[in-house]
Amino acid sequence: MSDFPAFPPGFEFGAATSAYQIEGATGKDGRGPSIWDTFCLRGGAIRDGSSGDTACDHYRRHREDVALLADLGVSTYRFSVAWPRIQPSGAGPVNPRGLDFYARLVDDLLAAGVTPVLTLYHWDLPQPLEDAGGWRSRDTSERFAQYAALVAARLGDREPRWITLNEPWCSAFLGYGNGEHAPGVSEGTPALAAAHHLLVGHGLAMGALRAAGVREAGIALNLDHVSPATPRADDLAAAVRAETQRNVMWTEPLLEGRYAAAESDTWGELIECQDFRRDGDLALVSAPMDFLGINYYTPSTVRAAPWREPDPARRTAMDNRFEAVPHPGVRHTAMGWPVVPGALRQLLTSLRDRYGARLPPLHITENGSAEHDAPAADGTVHDAERIAYLESHLRAVAEARAEGVDLRGYTVWSLLDNFEWAYGYSRRFGLVHVDFPTGTRTPKASYHWYKAAIAASQAP
Ligand code: FCB
Repeated sequence: MSDFPAFPPGFEFGAATSAYQIEGATGKDGRGPSIWDTFCLRGGAIRDGSSGDTACDHYRRHREDVALLADLGVSTYRFSVAWPRIQPSGAGPVNPRGLDFYARLVDDLLAAGVTPVLTLYHWDLPQPLEDAGGWRSRDTSERFAQYAALVAARLGDREPRWITLNEPWCSAFLGYGNGEHAPGVSEGTPALAAAHHLLVGHGLAMGALRAAGVREAGIALNLDHVSPATPRADDLAAAVRAETQRNVMWTEPLLEGRYAAAESDTWGELIECQDFRRDGDLALVSAPMDFLGINYYTPSTVRAAPWREPDPARRTAMDNRFEAVPHPGVRHTAMGWPVVPGALRQLLTSLRDRYGARLPPLHITENGSAEHDAPAADGTVHDAERIAYLESHLRAVAEARAEGVDLRGYTVWSLLDNFEWAYGYSRRFGLVHVDFPTGTRTPKASYHWYKAAIAASQAP
């Protein structure tokens, strides 16, 4: 650990999961169906044909997982609340058995000395809300704020840090743009309406959380570091469009209270019809946040491309006249994602340069890698690639801090191997190996490495 970067006392090391990816027990204690339950039943949607029905069985085994966190020595644990457990139909009174589960979890974490970080929405929309239009409909934003108020009324006194949405880019563009995620549709303007309604839902939920007196609230965005493939003008313009879709259409409304400047160039005719935007929305969306969470895994290099679909009436919201180019010569994870830790440092410093004092304190709310882990004969998992990934990204975080970026915590995705969305159980991100047939947890070498790294970095 001698060359491990130093972090000051108070810097928070954490680990993360999300409800649908780990809990299982999808039919228990009154939980209603979510869009992921429905999507998993669709043939071909999930690579291994699986679902989150059992996942890591965390709903039943959560005490074991809290013990793993305590032993790891993390100061924070980021988890999400399943909206369909709290309001099985997405509206109406609270289902007390659902809320009890999270109250127990929060109490157990606090008792173990681990600060809970609660995400309200990590993609598991109640199915009845999707049936009524989902995020394409502004009503979902209003429902989301009501749900936030219900959770805050019960947990607001002891839950210190709240995240409204996880990665709204994925909800809007993978859910409604290319259909790789639930609800699995490919649309144009309705997907842009979904993006807007996610932002409005965030703003309304911030209001509900403030009204309940919560201490800290913000959002978690998956921000990309985008580079042009060449310095040619058309590739530079393509990079601006990519940045607009990935980053700027989220950060400009949230941090500056304005829409992205390059949105017409990025979406053409699709953004001309803006009747989903109302006066006052930007003021709502840009309500001050106590922190900005950033999920980072890999960067993008892009070049100019024509519209994939020339007819705007049939174009999806992810058709933006850019295409990704490969990153030769760097290692790729089991997701096929290039490993470029320096891009994390550049992303952080460029955010600081762009937004200055408008940028709230930052937290890395997810970072990690999927690797081809297999237990050795002695049962241990020697995941040297994951250790190298985490170490290099922590170093990038330390460099950004040394350059003056106000970044206060780093969270590994994930505590446990889990249901990796459209990849099912075929991709493992955990510090802890999960044998899915039995639920047996086995800490990997990376867990022991992270534990030692935390201890070393916090030694006096
Ligand atoms: C992020 C998600 C998280 C997990 C990681 C690998 O986009 O927030 O649930 O799937 O990617």
